[in-house]
Amino acid sequence: MKALDGKVVFVTGGARGIGRAICEAMAAAGAKVVVSDLNAEDAAQTAKAIDGLAVALDVTDFASITARMAEVEETLGGIDILVNNAGIFNMASIGKITPEDYRRQYDVNVGGTIFACQAVIPAMKRRGGGAIINFSSQAGRRGEPNVTVYCSTKAAVISVTQSLAKELAADNIRVNAVAPGVIDTPMWDVVDAQFAEYENKPIGQKKREVGEAVPLGRMGDPRDVADPCVFLASDAARYITGQTLNVDGGNWVS
Ligand SMILES: NC(=O)c1ccc[n+]([C@@H]2O[C@H](COP(=O)([O-])OP(=O)(O)OC[C@H]3O[C@@H](n4cnc5c(N)ncnc54)[C@H](O)[C@@H]3O)[C@@H](O)[C@H]2O)c1
Repeated sequence: MKALDGKVVFVTGGARGIGRAICEAMAAAGAKVVVSDLNAEDAAQTAKAIDGLAVALDVTDFASITARMAEVEETLGGIDILVNNAGIFNMASIGKITPEDYRRQYDVNVGGTIFACQAVIPAMKRRGGGAIINFSSQAGRRGEPNVTVYCSTKAAVISVTQSLAKELAADNIRVNAVAPGVIDTPMWDVVDAQFAEYENKPIGQKKREVGEAVPLGRMGDPRDVADPCVFLASDAARYITGQTLNVDGGNWVS
């Protein structure tokens, strides 16, 4: 018997990076996995590799989240676990933040999380409960210069997780979050390039520096984040809700 046998898991941003590792780990734990992503082609590839179901979804198109989830319910009978992994990063010093960039990061990182939860909760209630895992970041714990918008979205995700955990506990729906540190994914290539510009460093230097500064001595691999997500989704975490678990090699100790 595997930890997630018979469970249906819906992962946003599942096509690549941490999301893909989560899809693989959830499938290995016995779940049927729905790989949803803005990038339909990559989502289809990930889904094919794990015998999952690919769904094209932009989490900022709030109305369409409900429609896509309803289709999944119809096909797979329900959704037990939602992983709100889709997220975007952009740097800007305070004078350079634009309303468009502010809205985009909030719509993906916070709005996408809230409205995906809204869409999935009726299905979870019908199944007698469920588990939701949101994506914060170490950036949401401590703030970073020139990263005001992204950091604040990730702090908001911690708060969303706490409120929904309390609201949904009576329905047997657990809501937790993970706060990854520095994880080697395509997103970090974007982060590295932006830091290179802001801190006047050669490409690749920031990535090396942040890896060396981790107490456990290296950047994280996407699988380092995926395995704790399987735990939070599973019955082993049945008495855990409202928490944000740091998965960062010891960067933030709380
Ligand atoms: N990589 C890190 O070091 C790190 C650290 C802390 C937190 N995180 C968080 O972990 C999550 C995954 O990060 P990653 O590094 O794997 O990122 P990534 O950029 O490598 O992958 C993100 C995936 O989300 C998808 N996506 C983006 N916008 C979307 C939208 N509007 N609708 C649906 N899908 C969308 C992308 O197509 C992509 O497949 C994000 O929430 C990120 O903020 C990452």
